[in-house]
Amino acid sequence: MTGGTGLFVSFEGIDGSGKSTQARLLAEHLRCAGREVVLTREPGGSPGAEEIRTLVLQGDPERWSAETELLLFTAARRDHLERTIRPALARGATVICDRFADSTRMYQGLSRGDLRGAVDTLHRLMIGVEPDLTLLIDMDPEAALARAKARATAEERFEDFGLPLQQQMRAGFLALAAEFSDRFRIIDGNRPPEAVAQDVRAALQAQA
Ligand code: ADP
Ligand code: TYD
Repeated sequence: MTGGTGLFVSFEGIDGSGKSTQARLLAEHLRCAGREVVLTREPGGSPGAEEIRTLVLQGDPERWSAETELLLFTAARRDHLERTIRPALARGATVICDRFADSTRMYQGLSRGDLRGAVDTLHRLMIGVEPDLTLLIDMDPEAALARAKARATAEERFEDFGLPLQQQMRAGFLALAAEFSDRFRIIDGNRPPEAVAQDVRAALQAQA
């Protein structure tokens, strides 16, 4: 789908579900097996997109309108795709991305009114690729929020929206997994990291 020979894997799920932890563990596992891995994240993953990350994740929750926010996330993704993801896939690397376009379908498409049509149109125009495999780390919204809050960083614009957003996003991600069932695999995140990592590795093996 991306025109390269590498494998494109994304992690999705609500804040605090363990995506970053699992992305890192999978990268370590594949590197030990001798594969070239590019571990990256959104928003961010290239110098320009990391600058946009600061704009969208810090400050007042009402800092941006829903539409402006969608444009900023899409701009960041386009830069990430051009400068990091496509070159890596073209040389045959495995790209592991902590969040990708499914997060925009959820957070910008659902959480502040129904913008899913605009999200899909922009995606088609400016991005046009999907991961080969998307691992949804599914977990209890309250427990995930407690984990996320315990991290206490400055990047709290979305965490400030609280438990109702987490609950809405969890249901939305499960619906998205049904909509794109060909590339989504649901992983139970309510377990110790190593147990979750085992399922992640199994999902990847099934894909190969
Ligand atoms: P996300 O990227 O989905 O927000 P993180 O991987 O950053 O989630 O995890 C959020 C917090 O929860 C971190 O402090 C991390 O160490 C911890 N954590 C991650 N996975 C687990 C797990 N399976 N069980 C308990 N704590 C976890
Ligand atoms: P992230 O750093 O992955 O947060 P966490 O580790 O807590 O899950 O992402 C930060 C926030 O950005 C997260 O609340 C979801 C939001 N986000 C969007 O709203 N749209 C997007 O397209 C992406 C990639 C992230």
